[in-house]
Amino acid sequence: MTPTAQPCRLVVCRGCCCGTKKKRPGVDHKGQLRRLGGLTDHEGRDVPMRTSTCLGICFKANVVVVQPSSRGRAAGGRPVWFGDVTEDRLVDRLDDWIFAGGPGIAPVPEELEPHLTSKDAKKPKKAKGKKKDKKDKKARKKAAKAAAAKRERAGAAPGGADAAAGRRSEEKKDGSGGKKARKKARKAAEKARKKERAGAG
Ligand code: FES
Repeated sequence: MTPTAQPCRLVVCRGCCCGTKKKRPGVDHKGQLRRLGGLTDHEGRDVPMRTSTCLGICFKANVVVVQPSSRGRAAGGRPVWFGDVTEDRLVDRLDDWIFAGGPGIAPVPEELEPHLTSKDAKKPKKAKGKKKDKKDKKARKKAAKAAAAKRERAGAAPGGADAAAGRRSEEKKDGSGGKKARKKARKAAEKARKKERAGAG
């Protein structure tokens, strides 16, 4: 076969996740591999398939890459990545597309479009809800701990927590934070001193 007559080629990921029941349960992975390995194009050429180790986008398992034929490459076709290839109908569409010429020759079938991906695909971020809940729980725990420590300190003060609370409520009633009582005491002391001086004179 001359290099200008190369058919499309398939790279099928069979790394840590693609092709495993753990990642994609309920899929006949072996059957899928058999089918992908038996494709031919419209010129009756077998489409070579090879499996690869992890292609780095496990969240898209199963990943299949279609490399263009030499004619497709000459027409500007480049390798096309597909993710989440788990259903038989997707393998049917891959078969149709490759038969029609694949990258550079035929447009990607509509059904395969949502499965287009690339080696640079970004893993979708997990919802922040759970993380936030955890943070809130931690903050609530911290606040409860601080409040308990404060109560303990107040309990250790002279007269205990009740006395402290009593003092606070007295001062509140006074409305002056204890200022009036202190003024009164000062005045009484002054009066007593005056009386003493008068008596001495
Ligand atoms: S195992 Fe296929 S992308 Fe990782």
